Amino acid sequence: MTQQPLLVANWKMQLTLEETGRLLTAVQQALGSNIDPVKLVVCPSYPALEQVRQGLSGSPIRLGAQDVFWSERGAFTGEVSPLQLRELGVSYVIVGHSERRHHLEETDAMISQKMISAIGHGIMPILCVGETADDRAAGRTELVVRTQLQNALRSVPPAALGRRLCLTYEPVWAISPGGPASPEEALEMKALIEQVVVDMYGAELMARSFRFIYGGSVDAQNVCDFVSPDGFAGALVGAASLKAESLVAMVRAVHECFQTR
Ligand code: PGA
Repeated sequence: MTQQPLLVANWKMQLTLEETGRLLTAVQQALGSNIDPVKLVVCPSYPALEQVRQGLSGSPIRLGAQDVFWSERGAFTGEVSPLQLRELGVSYVIVGHSERRHHLEETDAMISQKMISAIGHGIMPILCVGETADDRAAGRTELVVRTQLQNALRSVPPAALGRRLCLTYEPVWAISPGGPASPEEALEMKALIEQVVVDMYGAELMARSFRFIYGGSVDAQNVCDFVSPDGFAGALVGAASLKAESLVAMVRAVHECFQTR
């Protein structure tokens, strides 16, 4: 069965609260209330979550966060707990984004704890894995991606899998301003990621409980090279999600590509 395509707009730390509000309003006005079969998730930065939650009231667009901490509460200065995210109506959370792995030295062990925390609180993790340009040049792509995945999922028992867990292949070198991976390169890695999941959970759970998406310089022109009924089931989008026109054009392009099947 074809999965509903998922577009995740990761607004990173790119917008002021005012800009966030303007972008959200423009996107909602342009898209209206029916975006089926596309699922759109917007991930504003933490201080904008409450404002975006209110703006999304009655909307088919879902709210996501860019990170989560692993404990519910405690002396963890600066962190935000899964309980707080739930209170804010967050239903998706990005975990292990390469920018956090690299700028904040997030380790696989931390990412694994965040996965457990999100799943345990009913928040759908959008796990990111991917190699750097150096990894690729050194022929380490498969090893890096396999290790990141295994380490992130190791502590997630099959019984914890219910709704689809979202795995993102996000080659670090392809994040803008880099260029996108070629669809062939990306699909090759999708096959590897699927195999790792089959080895860990079996083919049935892989088909039932996982969704595979791509991230890295996706825009309205190329989104359907990656996201299609036979390709990835969605995309994680940074730069091209910051302008209403391009985010709306992406939703429409994916809509079109899944309708014509
Ligand atoms: P980009 O970001 O769309 O700006 O390349 C993608 C990502 O961070 O995964």
